Amino acid sequence: MGLRSQLNSLQESSGGKRISVNDLVIKAAALALRKVPQCNSSWTDNYILAVQTDNGLYVPVIRDADKKGLSKIADEVKNLAQRARENSLKPEDYEGGTFTVSNLGGPFGIKQFCAIINPPQSGILAVGSAEKRVIPGSGPDDFQFASFMTITLSCDHRVIDGAVGAEWLKAFKGYIENPESMLL
Ligand SMILES: *[C@@H]1O[C@H](CO)[C@@H](O)[C@H](O)[C@H]1NC(C)=O
Repeated sequence: MGLRSQLNSLQESSGGKRISVNDLVIKAAALALRKVPQCNSSWTDNYILAVQTDNGLYVPVIRDADKKGLSKIADEVKNLAQRARENSLKPEDYEGGTFTVSNLGGPFGIKQFCAIINPPQSGILAVGSAEKRVIPGSGPDDFQFASFMTITLSCDHRVIDGAVGAEWLKAFKGYIENPESMLL
């Protein structure tokens, strides 16, 4: 949260879009996919995603998010979300993803949930709201506040098994808890 407010002061002074927690999550998830490439896969590469045009749920794809800066990711997310609302996404905007991030924190305020995989993707990360919690110290008057967020990973067992899923979660946790490491 500290890094995010620093980055947002920079964004404000340069006229850039605000970086959301979700943008950081997308970046961390993409870097974790690079670290655990078994998760960057799908069950069949001939599968065509069927997306309803009327009221269906679109899942737009941010390509090469591991190589993009947070400001670029923030831009693309806002742009794709806007076009999804206007029903103007093109097939190339939502085809070919291998992994989804579903965030019901923020305005939804959901603490924790399980997300359903978008076939043929390998997995989906359910992200709950970031909330302040008290961390007890050693004495009665010794405590700290910190922000916590619950995430839940669903994996398609035909593509990823539990051990690989655990490795992915470890990589993701490493990045999101030490966001400076995403610069490396
Ligand atoms: C995931 O795989 C695709 C296709 O092989 C590749 O282009 C992309 O760079 C990979 N992404 C990550 C995060 O490693």
